[in-house]
Amino acid sequence: MSDQSPFETNVITLTRFVMEMGRKAKGTGEMTQLLYNILTAIKAISSAVRKAGLAHMYGIAGSTNVTGDEVKKLDVLSNDLVINMLSSSYSTCVLVSEENENAIIVPPDLRGKYVVCFDPLDGSSNIDCLAPIGTIFALYRKTTDTEPSEKDALQPGRTIVAAGYALYGSATLLALSTGQGVNCFMLDPALGEFILVDRDVKIKKKGKIYSINEGYAMYSDAALTEYLEAKKFPKDGSAPYSSRYVGSMVADIHRTIVYGGIFLYPANKKSPKGKLRLLYECNPMAFIIEQAGGLATTGTENILDIQPESIHQRVPLILGSPDDVQEYLSFVKKHQK
Ligand code: F6P
Repeated sequence: MSDQSPFETNVITLTRFVMEMGRKAKGTGEMTQLLYNILTAIKAISSAVRKAGLAHMYGIAGSTNVTGDEVKKLDVLSNDLVINMLSSSYSTCVLVSEENENAIIVPPDLRGKYVVCFDPLDGSSNIDCLAPIGTIFALYRKTTDTEPSEKDALQPGRTIVAAGYALYGSATLLALSTGQGVNCFMLDPALGEFILVDRDVKIKKKGKIYSINEGYAMYSDAALTEYLEAKKFPKDGSAPYSSRYVGSMVADIHRTIVYGGIFLYPANKKSPKGKLRLLYECNPMAFIIEQAGGLATTGTENILDIQPESIHQRVPLILGSPDDVQEYLSFVKKHQK
């Protein structure tokens, strides 16, 4: 943690950070514009999340999203905010949202070179009980000269140029990576600005926490069952791992980055492809985890190497401290023999 306080006169705000980054990159400024606009959407979502009770914005809006989850009013509001801020930033051409069945093609007069995949409000089943929720996003460059289409979003995570997540927890935090490590910023509600609190965050080599929905144990494969058993009854005399699971991936993964350990949403008999979505959940989180020194895999393939086939594709996701993920993979290998 840095020793900066909001009373310092030279704090590094996220706006300043992004501006400096843009200046150093000597680019066109499009990414700076894009990040400013996404930050404005995130600040507005944070404010809406904090006021949800008072403003009667929690509760079911009466429809379901493309992947079958209940859509809440806050989801609708967050989605509208992100879409409007991104499409008016003059820096995007294709937007993929968890809430929209088809990719959104930005009108020609507003277009720029970036493709953005996002989950405007992840963990929506946690809205009504006030548990942490988040926003996740990944930016790609359009790589062809053709008319923008959904196909522009079907790029492997390796080509991400920037990714981040906002966590609406006991405070609002934003983790951002542009491919040169991960920096964390905390929203100061009095300033309305994100302040740099953790520079070049690195995950522990090995942690002491595993995070999985163990309610699905009856659907698990033998490798996972045996791995979890080894975490609970270690044979080397070490202490068993703790179990933590919020059910909101931003909260579970942020904790994994801060404390170390492993987060698992693997394939199982009920969800043979896993549950989490590649483009706007797994890829941005895998990018951030790798930038923090961790690993992200499906169990057989590195997440960032997957060639997406469709915009709402699901994949198994196992990520976290490198030694923990490697240990899990050794159980997978053992059972493949
Ligand atoms: O994909 C939405 C999500 O809420 C994630 O944030 C979370 O990790 C996961 O679903 C929880 O799923 P389950 O309820 O099956 O454990």
